[in-house]
Amino acid sequence: MIRFLHQEREVAIEDLPADTTVLDYLREHRGLMGTKEGCASGDCGACTVVLAKATDKGLRYSPVNACIAPLGSLHGTELISVEDLKDGAAWHPVQRAMIECHASQCGFCTPGFVMSLFALYHAKTGCDRETILEALGGNLCRCTGYRPIIDAADQALANIEDDKFSRRAQATLDQLRALLDTESETAALESTHSHYFRPSNATHVAKLLAEHPEARLVAGGTDLFLESTQSLTPLPVLIDICAASELRSIHCNNDNIQLGAAVTHRDCIDVVLSDYPELAELIERFGSLQIRSQGTVAGNIANASPIGDWPPVLLALGGSIALQSSAGVRELPLDEFFLDYRKTAQAAGEFIATVILPRRKAKLLLRAYKISKRFEDDISSVCAVFALQLEGDRVTAAKVAFGGMAAIPKRAQAVESALSGLNLRTDSIENAAAAIAQDFQPIDDARASASYRLTVAARLLSRLQHEYRGEIATRVHLLGVNQAGAVPHG
Ligand code: FES
Ligand code: FES
Repeated sequence: MIRFLHQEREVAIEDLPADTTVLDYLREHRGLMGTKEGCASGDCGACTVVLAKATDKGLRYSPVNACIAPLGSLHGTELISVEDLKDGAAWHPVQRAMIECHASQCGFCTPGFVMSLFALYHAKTGCDRETILEALGGNLCRCTGYRPIIDAADQALANIEDDKFSRRAQATLDQLRALLDTESETAALESTHSHYFRPSNATHVAKLLAEHPEARLVAGGTDLFLESTQSLTPLPVLIDICAASELRSIHCNNDNIQLGAAVTHRDCIDVVLSDYPELAELIERFGSLQIRSQGTVAGNIANASPIGDWPPVLLALGGSIALQSSAGVRELPLDEFFLDYRKTAQAAGEFIATVILPRRKAKLLLRAYKISKRFEDDISSVCAVFALQLEGDRVTAAKVAFGGMAAIPKRAQAVESALSGLNLRTDSIENAAAAIAQDFQPIDDARASASYRLTVAARLLSRLQHEYRGEIATRVHLLGVNQAGAVPHG
């Protein structure tokens, strides 16, 4: 059984199929039609709902895409959809602002915009333009009416007052904590041929995986659920690792940063940027805020997509993963994890328990570039990460990794050799750029042609040199690091 709060009441569900989404639940099982389906792939934000979770600091409100959020992931949270915002007859301040600023043209995308603004209203992070654009980066207005929507955001956030949710925050927290206190070892949705397990510890994840070798693992589900919504492939047996207490934490020591497999992109931003501020723009561009709130670093690695954006970062920084099974735990350098297109070294019965990122070394020059057709909420055509150890201006060791250039995310070893010993200030980088063609024979696909990929990869290398020489500005963008200029590399 899974339990969550909706409209101030506890909801308990036991017998729906494992691959039921939150959107299916709202529209088909509750008859609540306010939340819309635009793309069913996490790309447009029309289906945005907000989940409130109990944390040490009180309630945390996160926007998620209901179209690809598993129903089972609601366990222990409060589900808030657009129908829930009105307080009696009174509109919520974000709804009132949308009306007064004429920000709803088609009406179809509007509930999603309202819910993203509602999450921002409760985030208490301020209302500067960058924050508003980040919050709305996962919501598409197809009629391009963004100006009145942003006006509505400015209006609603200019004067944040208590709403019915903040007034009953303590009661909600008490209800959520009571739900979690009564949590059994595994919350589950079970019907005849379908099982969704949400175990509360990693040992039980391993046990369930041994008992159900056919199960698919859910670590956010933002990619996995596309199989259901886009390819209409049933997902009858799912093991959701995100409630396992050991997998939800972040640990740092002198050597590394350890991210549990249930840590979302959003939850690791501060710790990763404290060592590697140069990754700010790339992390901001991992999907939308909705995706970053639901998707996990481990999931982005485990799905072994050639265009995932975390793998090039971890490959260039010498990252590794801990794989756990009922037989124990083994650590594997990420270099050895990706074998072929969507094939990995993860053995039957294993799951990624921890993602391990080494702490920053002195004299590191790090650059991460994402090339995609759209700036926000898009998949990479090419992702490049350069991690160069310097002695003065000379490269003493290079680790370079690309996504989108091969069937797997991959180090560029010929480029690394060509960079070693190079003086970045005085030597030409052309040989290293030419070596890209030795490392990769990319393919043509819908995102980019092979020749475009090779050309842009080489240009990124020269861009790195131009930035180093101060000939062009480095963009260290967004997420509060909003500044242009060279990043210190000492
Ligand atoms: Fe488009 Fe969900 S319907 S993101
Ligand atoms: Fe809905 Fe623009 S208001 S697409």
